[in-house]
Amino acid sequence: MDRITLDISLMFGRIPGWELKEKDLANLIPMVEEAHKRLHKREGDILDKGIPMTGWLDLPFSLEEEHLLKITEHAKELSRKIDAFVSVGIGGSYLGIEATIMCLKGTHYNQALIREGLPEIYFLGTNMDPDYYREILAILKDKRVAIHVISKSGTTLETAVAFRVLRRLLKEEWGRGYKDYLVISTDRQKGALRAMANALGFKTYDIPEDVGGRFSVLTDPLLFSIAMAGIDLVSFWKGFRSMAELLEVPDFYGNMSMAHALLRYVAWQKGKAIEVVATNSCHLYPVARWMEQLFPESEGHKGKGLWVSPSLYTEKLHANGQMVQEGPRNMIETFLVLQKHSSEIEIPKEEEDLDGLNFLCERGTAYMGHINRTAIEATAIAHYQGGVPSMSLHIPERTPYFIGQLYFLMEKSVALSGYLLGHNPFVQPGVEAYKKNMYALLGKPGTEGLVKELEKLKNTLSRVII
Ligand code: PA5
Repeated sequence: MDRITLDISLMFGRIPGWELKEKDLANLIPMVEEAHKRLHKREGDILDKGIPMTGWLDLPFSLEEEHLLKITEHAKELSRKIDAFVSVGIGGSYLGIEATIMCLKGTHYNQALIREGLPEIYFLGTNMDPDYYREILAILKDKRVAIHVISKSGTTLETAVAFRVLRRLLKEEWGRGYKDYLVISTDRQKGALRAMANALGFKTYDIPEDVGGRFSVLTDPLLFSIAMAGIDLVSFWKGFRSMAELLEVPDFYGNMSMAHALLRYVAWQKGKAIEVVATNSCHLYPVARWMEQLFPESEGHKGKGLWVSPSLYTEKLHANGQMVQEGPRNMIETFLVLQKHSSEIEIPKEEEDLDGLNFLCERGTAYMGHINRTAIEATAIAHYQGGVPSMSLHIPERTPYFIGQLYFLMEKSVALSGYLLGHNPFVQPGVEAYKKNMYALLGKPGTEGLVKELEKLKNTLSRVII
């Protein structure tokens, strides 16, 4: 199979705390088919500041190979001049890059053996922990560094703080030529970063106005950072495009995004609160982390949506796996199953079978990849028997093409989920609440009223310190 497939068999049947028959689902299928139709017509609650946020649906078709090769060339050219590259951004301006690099190039990418002469890659702007910064800055000291700042709004504090700190480092290191080592990605027209880039003449990439952060993996900015790790952008894009074509089919049993979205919706309606996104691949785990952002930031409105919990199996089966098997029956599972690992390790036969594992060799199952896949199969069944329905996404191999497919499939699934839940999945008004309070507590001019409000609230709380 040259594509990802979705197995939904373990969503059906009768298990503790759950019952779903295919005929029950049949009544709901028209709902998701209607959602699909409306999404393709760009109808419904999809606007952000008056702009329909569906540009990501078109990207797989509008991009051109030549354009991707230009981005690749820029990345190669910069790579030759530096030892370390820092990608600065948070949320949608970060997770897709890290997930793609770690997935395709390895979780220990910065080891010289793995990156094969390309620069080390670091991520900043994802937190404001000075200890973490100190570590990264110490690593960067005496290295030839370039930075790429990504912020669509240009106002995200985490990103802006990182940029200030790194700007000083760049100036100290490169002097007046520092501009050659700085790339800015932001809105084509608006925002502080755009103004700075225009004023100082930095190299820039645009974030299209109709593509939100978490849907932006296939935009120039993220692609540029991804290309810094030597990833084949053309094949990545072709994966997106092949999945986009496949998911145009307007009927449920031919369209994985509809099936994934509807079954998650049914689970939520039946009182499930958590979707464990579990994988048997250390490399797919960062992709599960990307999903942890894509879904809740899109779905968590008005008391609705599923909490997404990324999990690496079998490690977590010796931890919260106990909870999945026997805890509250408030979860479903989506497995990201890597069908073929890039390598295999044979478990050697020993003369004295003291650990009792020789049976593996005798049965022809003494291969780590095989054991890993079997473990996931066994887990899915055990969890099902324990009352956790699940779906499995089978990813044939860990290649740019299949990872591109997976991203687009998930983007479309969450978009449909917005229609089913009845709210706009392309905005995240809730994220503003902490920002407003933080700016007020930091003393930003104009927030004096809010400071008073926060003080008042604090005074109504009794202080209980134990
Ligand atoms: O998906 C989103 O829209 C968010 O996660 C943003 O990407 C994140 O908040 C960063 O925003 P910005 O790129 O404006 O700095």
